Amino acid sequence: MKIIMLGAPGAGKGTQAKMIAEKCGIPHISTGDIFRANIKQGTELGRKAKEFMDKGLLVPDELTCDLVVDRIQKDDCANGFILDGFPRTIRQGEVLEEALTGLGQKVDCALDIVVPDESIIERMAGRRACVGCGATYHIVFAPTKTEGICDKCGEKLILRDDDKPETVQRRLAVYHEQTQPLEDFYAARGVLKEVDGTQTMDKVFGDILGILGV
Ligand code: AP5
Ligand code: MG
Repeated sequence: MKIIMLGAPGAGKGTQAKMIAEKCGIPHISTGDIFRANIKQGTELGRKAKEFMDKGLLVPDELTCDLVVDRIQKDDCANGFILDGFPRTIRQGEVLEEALTGLGQKVDCALDIVVPDESIIERMAGRRACVGCGATYHIVFAPTKTEGICDKCGEKLILRDDDKPETVQRRLAVYHEQTQPLEDFYAARGVLKEVDGTQTMDKVFGDILGILGV
């Protein structure tokens, strides 16, 4: 199954994608996570991506598309994959479609997690990410057992650089302008499925499993 996650920043794409990946036994591919790993390792790609990410802007398509097209052709994607945070522009949607068509494949489901902007701001301010394993928590909605310490690996938790309120506003504006048009793109292909992302994480997951039929 080839699944893509649509939805605003902070809608819960990463939270749900990790659970779907585990349930379906397919890899979770997050372009945001790939960029953050590159920033941490101090690579050239990381250095370039950080300039855009810290401003709440999209990393240019030429730095993003090739890496995803390469990644989805790795052996572990033979039974499918879940793309989280890609595509984010119509151009990226077209590049993905061309690449998949070349492989005789297509996107089976575009899951759109719908959350209004007001709730997004609250979620981002409370999100904490692990510097070690990348696990995501929320100080109110998904707290760790010990404050500031990752339940999974024991490393410390941080507020992401791009989760500052003014940057979140910019990311939301960019989302509405550049990413939301993908809803029509995938609706036209008959694969768009909307999920109410304002429910609890478990309810959202239940709705998604119902849609996927797994
Ligand atoms: P990326 O890392 O993809 O960030 P994003 O899309 O802005 O999404 P987030 O990761 O912020 O949110 P999410 O939807 O995953 O929510 P989460 O599950 O964490 O991208 C970062 C940057 O990289 C971009 O701004 C861009 O610069 C660049 N980039 C990445 N991909 C790119 C591309 N393709 N092209 C160009 N540039 C690209 O949940 C959020 C919080 O809410 C968490 O604390 C969570 O615990 C909590 N939460 C989740 N679900 C619920 C719920 N149901 N109820 C209550 N709380 C919840
Ligand atoms: Mg995410």
